[in-house]
Amino acid sequence: MYLVWTDVFSHPLWAVSTVILGLILRSQRRGSWDPRACLVQLKGKTAIVTGANTGIGKFIALDFALRGTRVIMACRSEARGSVALHEIRKRSGNADVHLRLVNTSSLASVRAFAEGVLREEKELHILVNNAGASGLPRDITSDGLEVSFATNHVGPFLLTNLLLDLLKQSAPARIVNVSSMNHWKGMVDFSHFKGKNLGYTMDSVYNHTKLHNVICTNELARRLQGTGVTANSVHPGLVMTEIMRHYNFMVRFLFNMIGIFFFKSSEEGAVSTIYCTVAMEMEGITGKYFDSDCSLGLPAPLARDPTLAVKVFEFCERLTSKF
Ligand SMILES: NC(=O)c1ccc[n+]([C@@H]2O[C@H](COP(=O)([O-])OP(=O)(O)OC[C@H]3O[C@@H](n4cnc5c(N)ncnc54)[C@H](OP(=O)(O)O)[C@@H]3O)[C@@H](O)[C@H]2O)c1
Repeated sequence: MYLVWTDVFSHPLWAVSTVILGLILRSQRRGSWDPRACLVQLKGKTAIVTGANTGIGKFIALDFALRGTRVIMACRSEARGSVALHEIRKRSGNADVHLRLVNTSSLASVRAFAEGVLREEKELHILVNNAGASGLPRDITSDGLEVSFATNHVGPFLLTNLLLDLLKQSAPARIVNVSSMNHWKGMVDFSHFKGKNLGYTMDSVYNHTKLHNVICTNELARRLQGTGVTANSVHPGLVMTEIMRHYNFMVRFLFNMIGIFFFKSSEEGAVSTIYCTVAMEMEGITGKYFDSDCSLGLPAPLARDPTLAVKVFEFCERLTSKF
């Protein structure tokens, strides 16, 4: 007996699994917390949002601007950043929103950006490490690092450490690292940082980088106990942004087709991060991983191993101290 491909779609299992998938994806859309109903004002506070020119980051920056925050939009493109800057100033009526340039895949750029912040800012109350990329082709940066690791983890790790004293001086302060539920599929192997022993199918490299985000956030939170600075990581949900820009046409087409029905908008995708940075009930909460509906999530077992966390954190410290 031959099975033709149309039989697969008419099979009851296909229908059942489609409904289950639809329900899972739809549940990702609902946020239990509404930023518009949260009346917290942040006048007098300063926030940095990386990757604030588009997608999730733009709506995080807009929310902060609407609350009266001094916002530093940390973007890599002056042209794209300027367009978003003017839009956010116009929509929020807040003129205290500024564009500064940083490329998180370059440690020299991260250092230059941080130096500028330390020179210009007296206080820093919120740092959102949102900038990230998926599906980047195999490459090694001028620092000798695998490009996805540099962009998504090592650059943001260095940035956070360079700004840590300012955050401590400004306490209470909050650090939020935008990770992904994909961190569950990640692995730890220090040779990955240099681009060795990596497979690029289904963007497993992205998953590894997002796992390192959660591991290092947890260790940072442990080190920051008693300082008044909290550090948490979040999953924003499945969000219709430009995140698939490095994938081929077919993958982008499928992502967009499914996304129209089931994925969150960029504005909805910003909610879990805004919750962690703004909500009163998040005061003092640290070292946690939050799901896209703002509920406390269980991170992957590797992200719950405190001994591994120390090793990974110290490895990243050694790696970034060289540059
Ligand atoms: N969308 C999702 O479904 C999803 C799911 C889980 C987690 N996330 C995470 O959410 C975060 C935001 O992603 P998004 O969905 O909003 O994607 P996006 O629309 O592609 O936005 C990514 C942002 O990061 C910036 N960026 C990328 N590489 C950079 C670099 N080397 N230096 C500085 N900035 C850089 C981009 O700047 P340019 O515009 O100049 O490139 C852009 O502003 C990422 O960390 C991503 O991993 C997203």
